[in-house]
Amino acid sequence: MKNIVVLVSGGGTNLQALIDAQKSGIIKNGRISCVISSKEGAYALERAANENIPTRVIPRKEYADNKSYSKAILDALNEEKADLIVLAGFMIILDEIVTKSYPYKIINVHPALIPSFCGEGFYGLKVHEKALEYGVKVSGATVHFVNEEADAGAIIMQKAVAVENGDTPEVLQKRIMEQAEWKILPQTVSLFCQDKIEIVDGRAVVNE
Ligand code: GAR
Repeated sequence: MKNIVVLVSGGGTNLQALIDAQKSGIIKNGRISCVISSKEGAYALERAANENIPTRVIPRKEYADNKSYSKAILDALNEEKADLIVLAGFMIILDEIVTKSYPYKIINVHPALIPSFCGEGFYGLKVHEKALEYGVKVSGATVHFVNEEADAGAIIMQKAVAVENGDTPEVLQKRIMEQAEWKILPQTVSLFCQDKIEIVDGRAVVNE
């Protein structure tokens, strides 16, 4: 049974999708062992507490820089004996001291089809604002491994979602969450926990 540590910063609907998937048996060979939040009072903490999942708060604002913050996260991950780290709406780009300590063990859900609308500055609603501004007719979500470069690690799963006339960033965000993120994130977690994701020449291959 793998220890899944979920990192969050806000509302935690992706965390909820993981909790629901765990309860319904979709996640095989893994359990959410800890939720770590970068913000006090994040609603995601309440979602975890409701299920008696242990939580930790490591507030970003209490650390001088990204490196010292990342070191605190690394210490917590080591203490929790994390086998898989899931960034589920975690709004901080972790320093390489974390990514290099957990190669191909950290996954992130991004609310667009990478390599579109990704990288530094593309997070949360901003991603959908940019997609609508550009006028794309299809967007979606991507689950990928996390490496030293923002949103550039090996892609594991993607799902496309239609953009519709009159969409606002909020409407598009909700559709992408419902139709893509909340599905492909739990699926990826389950595949990882069953050792069904292989790395071949730096790319992720899923053996279902
Ligand atoms: C989600 O749409 C997630 O993909 C996005 O923030 C939202 C968090 O929602 N993450 C990023 O933009 C990371 N680059 P949630 O807290 O309800 O899961």
